[in-house]
Amino acid sequence: MLFKEMVDARYSVKSFDGRAVEEEKLQAVLEAAGKAPTARNAQCVRIYVLKSEAAMDKARELTPCTYGAPVCLLVAYDRTEAYRYPDEDGNADSGAEDCAIVATHVMFEALEQGLGTCWVNRFSPTKAKEVFVLPKEQEAVLMMPIGYPAENARPLANHEKKKPLAEIVTEL
Ligand SMILES: Cc1cc2nc3c(=O)[nH]c(=O)nc-3n(C[C@H](O)[C@H](O)[C@H](O)COP(=O)(O)O)c2cc1C
Repeated sequence: MLFKEMVDARYSVKSFDGRAVEEEKLQAVLEAAGKAPTARNAQCVRIYVLKSEAAMDKARELTPCTYGAPVCLLVAYDRTEAYRYPDEDGNADSGAEDCAIVATHVMFEALEQGLGTCWVNRFSPTKAKEVFVLPKEQEAVLMMPIGYPAENARPLANHEKKKPLAEIVTEL
């Protein structure tokens, strides 16, 4: 698929048919994730693949937004590796941004593989850290269920409601 076609085809999938995701497709998605740019190439992002029944049970306890997906990624980053912005008070780092770019690669490679995704922030990062026993220096940022969209899966009505460019773009 051309990139423009993928941009037009992507939507947040909120109903999966539960079919397993083939290992090679998941691998392709993870490889795309690994090629995402990160600040100073620090590569602070960590991806947890929640795939076993036990891991998916925990994912479902953390959020109501797994939507029947067979796999869910938990995207986190290591605070000690993230790029620290020098102009700030020392607390601002690139971790969340790096995770966002990685997740965007995941969304589009998944689409290329015929899969759907949904970006999920409706969970407690603190609880996720506890439940999956993440190292103390890591912060959970987002969850992303991945799978085959259910036959009746459709974009939500708000998918089409994008602001006109004139509202979000300013030429200076
Ligand atoms: C940062 C972020 C957080 C989101 N969190 C959730 C979520 O917790 N649960 C959910 O069902 N969808 C979530 N979404 C999906 C949005 O609701 C969806 O992207 C938005 O409604 C636009 O729809 P579209 O992706 O189909 O264009 C999130 C999306 C983003 C970008």
